[in-house]
Amino acid sequence: MKRPIHFETDRLILRDWREADWAEFWRVTNTPAVMRWLGGVANTEKRAGAQDRLLSYRSEHGHTFWVVERKEDGALLGFCGLKRSNQAGGPIGAMEVGWRLREDAWGQGYAREAATAALDLAFGRFGAQEVIALTVAGNEASWGLMVRLGMERREDLDFDNAEFDPESGRIIVYSIAREAWQAGRVAARA
Ligand SMILES: CC(C)(COP(=O)(O)OP(=O)(O)OC[C@H]1O[C@@H](n2cnc3c(N)ncnc32)[C@H](O)[C@@H]1OP(=O)(O)O)[C@@H](O)C(=O)NCCC(=O)NCCS
Repeated sequence: MKRPIHFETDRLILRDWREADWAEFWRVTNTPAVMRWLGGVANTEKRAGAQDRLLSYRSEHGHTFWVVERKEDGALLGFCGLKRSNQAGGPIGAMEVGWRLREDAWGQGYAREAATAALDLAFGRFGAQEVIALTVAGNEASWGLMVRLGMERREDLDFDNAEFDPESGRIIVYSIAREAWQAGRVAARA
């Protein structure tokens, strides 16, 4: 059994999944707006596949895209966390940060707060040297967050994969190295 994750920020908790979370997670996030750049609203089979993958990341690597819970009222806002990149054609095995929040939680800085915690865990507890993030060009909210986190555009790592955006057929990559993340954290505290 890998060490449990329960990581608190000012407003949020990042934690391991409980069986009871899944129904609520899909209820609040399996909507056309949230799933717009993720292949659209997921059917039962896709949802089951996603759950299995999230649990397998946890058992294989000790990290996954964790539940993001709001402290104030215990609401499940979505997920955010770390996996090993596994998209066909991409940088397989690289430490990857990812996020998905319910629509009524957007625009309040929750994603940034959760992603900052995930990057602290990546470079701290999980010892990463570099963390990447993947999205598609149309998903401005997601790559905007990558930019706000100080991640750099990595055109050299972009790859063809039409799973999320059949129109462009391309996944775009951002990354941040350990030193850059730590320097940014020190500057933010100063
Ligand atoms: C990608 C996603 C997580 C980004 O969420 P987000 O809420 O836009 O991101 P942030 O947490 O950085 O919030 C940013 C906004 O909150 C505002 N904000 C309000 N209060 C804030 C606070 N206390 N701290 C920081 N920002 C705050 C910021 O000004 C910013 O607004 P702006 O974009 O108008 O400038 C969200 O759009 C999402 O879940 N999308 C669907 C799933 C998805 O596509 N996932 C990614 C797949 S690659």
